[in-house]
Amino acid sequence: MAARDGIALVDRDAHGVDRAFRADVLEGLSQDQKALPARWLYDDAGSQLFEDITQVPEYYPTRAETEILTERGDEFAEMIGPDRAVVEFGSGSSVKTPLLLSAINPSAYVPLDIAGDFLREAASGLSQRFPDLAIYPVEADFMREVDLPTEVASLPKLGFFPGSTIGNMVPRTAVDLLRSMRLTLKADYGMQPMLLIGMDLVKDPEVLEAAYDDEKGVTAKFNRNLARRINRELEGTLPIDALRHVARWNDDFARVEMHLEATRPIRFDVSGKNFAMAEGETIHTENSHKFTRRSANLLLQAAGWSPRRRWLDRAKQFSLILAEATEPRNAP
Ligand code: AVJ
Repeated sequence: MAARDGIALVDRDAHGVDRAFRADVLEGLSQDQKALPARWLYDDAGSQLFEDITQVPEYYPTRAETEILTERGDEFAEMIGPDRAVVEFGSGSSVKTPLLLSAINPSAYVPLDIAGDFLREAASGLSQRFPDLAIYPVEADFMREVDLPTEVASLPKLGFFPGSTIGNMVPRTAVDLLRSMRLTLKADYGMQPMLLIGMDLVKDPEVLEAAYDDEKGVTAKFNRNLARRINRELEGTLPIDALRHVARWNDDFARVEMHLEATRPIRFDVSGKNFAMAEGETIHTENSHKFTRRSANLLLQAAGWSPRRRWLDRAKQFSLILAEATEPRNAP
C-alpha cells in the first residue's frame, strides 16, 4: 500500500509561524541561563544537517547502532515476534528503519515526526523498498499522546526510538515522554506494547566531546542553524557570526551540552522583543545524556517500562534496549 498523506497537527498562526516554537524561544531567551528545547534544532535543514553529522568520523553513535541492528536481526525477531505495528518516534533515519523492518516483518509502519516534508520523503522512500507494507505517516509532536490511525488500532505495537534521542531530554521530560509513548502505543487484546530504544553509553569525555565538535564543523553548523531558524521564522536578528559552537561534558549530569556562546557583547530582536548577551554568555541548545546499564534501566522503569533485553555494539559504545510495558504491581 502506498504511503497516504500525513495528518497535520502542528499549530500555526495566520503567518504560518509555529506557535509553540515562538513561545519556547521567547521564554528560553528570557531566562538567566538562556536555553532552547533541543527539538527545535530539527527543522528540515536541521534534520539534513544531522544526517550529515552521522557521516563524520568522530560521531560514532549512528554507526554503532546500525551495527547492532544489522547483526542482531534474528534476536529481535525472536523477542518481538511478527505482525506488530511498528511506531517510530521521529522518522529521521533512512538506514536504521529498513534494518528493523526486514528483521521483524511488521504488519504496518507508522512514522511520527514534526518535520512534515522530511517525514513524507522518508515514508515514500520506504514504501518503494517495502511495497507490501502499510505505511501511515503522522505529522505530530510525539511528546504528547498521539492518536494513531484507526487502521492500526487493533494491532499490538512496537515503539521504535533509535538514535539515543531520549538522551536529549532531562530525566523528568524523558519520563514524561516514555509515559506518553506507553499511552500512544496502548495495550491491545492483552498484548502489552514493546519499545526498542537506543541509549548511548557513558565513556571517555574526550571521545564524547569530539563526537559533538567534529573537525569539519558540521555539528557547529547544525547548532548555528537554530539561530538561523529563529532569524528565518521569528523575524530574528541574531548575529550568527558572533555565536561560537561549544560542546562540553557535564559530569554531574552525565551529559554532553551544546551551547552557542557570544564571542562579543550582542543585542538582537526576536518577534519584536529585545535581547542582549554579554561576551562569553551562552544559549544552551542541547543536552545529550549518556547512560550506564543501571541508569538506563532506572529511567525506563520510572516510566512503566520493564527492560527485557539489551544489545551492545562490538566496541561497547552504544546500547539498544528492548522493554515491555508493565502494569504497576504491589512489591515490597
Ligand atoms: C539525534 C539526539 C541522537 O544527541 O547524539 C548530534 C543529536 N547533536 N550531534 C545526539 C546531535 C549533535 C543526536 N541525537
